[in-house]
Amino acid sequence: MQFIHTLKYASDTGCLGINAFYKQENLIFEFQISNLMYEFKTVDFQSDLYYKVVDLRERVLRLPLGLKFQKKDLETDSNELIYSLIVAGNPVACVQARPLGCDTVKLRQMAVEQSWQGRGLGKKIISKVEELLRNKSYKQVELHARKTAIGFYLKMGYEIDSDEFTEVGIPHFRMIKKL
Ligand SMILES: CC(C)(COP(=O)(O)OP(=O)(O)OC[C@H]1O[C@@H](n2cnc3c(N)ncnc32)[C@H](O)[C@@H]1OP(=O)(O)O)[C@@H](O)C(=O)NCCC(=O)NCCS
Repeated sequence: MQFIHTLKYASDTGCLGINAFYKQENLIFEFQISNLMYEFKTVDFQSDLYYKVVDLRERVLRLPLGLKFQKKDLETDSNELIYSLIVAGNPVACVQARPLGCDTVKLRQMAVEQSWQGRGLGKKIISKVEELLRNKSYKQVELHARKTAIGFYLKMGYEIDSDEFTEVGIPHFRMIKKL
């Protein structure tokens, strides 16, 4: 399903070669820390895993702000590549990539389950996604960083590229990184 949506999006953007970005790969790699196995996967739009990822996004990114997802908030998901780190079938971290043209991708919805934060998982998922995007010839990543997460992205090599602005009711900055 996502494949069909994204092929359409690729032809809409006019980016030849973008189709390879969207192959249905699902399991990208797995690793073990202590006795826990971590699977890094792409998430098919509207799959069972997709809805678990939406729950994770809502728990980490919306509910602490007193917000819930509305239908319109999820409308663009079908055109994005959704990545998740999974332990025992449950997503513990996620991020998604929205192509903004042939060279630039916007990362959004970066979230690590609260009890899994501070263990290097955010760093791992961003680094892997950047590697995948670089291999697909993207040149630049941009994102809207919450002010509270600026330090994380600075450590990942992102630079602040805007004045402060408000999104979902809280301060944000646009940040960019050359791949
Ligand atoms: C921000 C977030 C994605 C970071 O993921 P994480 O797995 O907790 O971060 P990591 O453990 O991989 O940390 C990597 C490095 O960034 C630092 N770091 C992590 N979060 C940070 C923060 N909010 N501010 C400053 N530094 C931070 C860590 O100390 C670590 O530094 P080190 O490499 O020197 O040890 C995660 O905490 C989260 O989901 N927060 C709530 C939602 C959110 O703000 N999402 C981002 C929206 S733009």
